[in-house]
Amino acid sequence: MNYNEQSKNSIFNIQHSALKSPLLNAKGISHDFDYPLFNNINLTLNPKETIAIIGMSGCGKSTLLNIFCSLLQPNVGDVYFKDKNIFQLSQKEMLELRRDDFGIIFQAHYLFRGFSADENLKIAEFLSGNKIDDDLIEALNIKHVISQGIGELSGGQQQRLSIARVLTKKPKIIFADEPTGNLDQDTAKEVMNVLFDYVSKQNAGMILVTHDKEIAFSCDKVYKLVDQTLEQIK
Ligand SMILES: Nc1ncnc2c1ncn2[C@@H]1O[C@H](COP(=O)(O)OP(=O)(O)OP(=O)(O)O)[C@@H](O)[C@H]1O
Ligand SMILES: [Mg+2]
Repeated sequence: MNYNEQSKNSIFNIQHSALKSPLLNAKGISHDFDYPLFNNINLTLNPKETIAIIGMSGCGKSTLLNIFCSLLQPNVGDVYFKDKNIFQLSQKEMLELRRDDFGIIFQAHYLFRGFSADENLKIAEFLSGNKIDDDLIEALNIKHVISQGIGELSGGQQQRLSIARVLTKKPKIIFADEPTGNLDQDTAKEVMNVLFDYVSKQNAGMILVTHDKEIAFSCDKVYKLVDQTLEQIK
């Protein structure tokens, strides 16, 4: 093998192993508030993979997602991003992880209310150093409302704007809690296509909580949170 082939091979191996090692690994997660919510949950998310979590209202899906995305420390268990135990990071490392690597899309979206849609995107652009992707704005069908103030957008438009804002920073993992909850079926499908497309093009991963079975089953894997445990049903 000549030098060129060797270096090509090693680049391939690096890329290959980066694609194979998990993005997120949750080990032995247990948590309770007034009563036990779940016990000994394990979950692995690989690059390019999308995972849906379904389950009855109040069973603990949002709580579990909050744990996976670093916002809530579980009573027991660890969550690893790549090889880092996220609950052992310093405060500075934790902020960097949330700013650079994790994209959190929750129903209560945190848009800056005194600003226009466009200004909200510019802020994301400024904070992340990444350009807003115009195709994304078009695909999310919010181009026509881009100069309007946040208060003048519908709930679904705000939701799509917050998705655009999160994707602008190019996160490695998207955590989404009912991201299509405010949307009609057609718009919901389009938003999901934007998210799936993002995951596949960026070698990212996604963990999604939803009540919509059709959307859940369009993910690679589906887990049901039931009897305090995650049961894989796809
Ligand atoms: N911060 C908290 N303090 C105390 N109890 C909480 C807290 N957050 C959630 N809970 C309780 O934990 C349980 C699970 O809540 P969670 O929001 O995780 O459910 P969920 O599966 O996401 O429900 P839904 O499908 O309705 O969104 C509920 O009984 C809720 O009242
Ligand atoms: Mg919830």
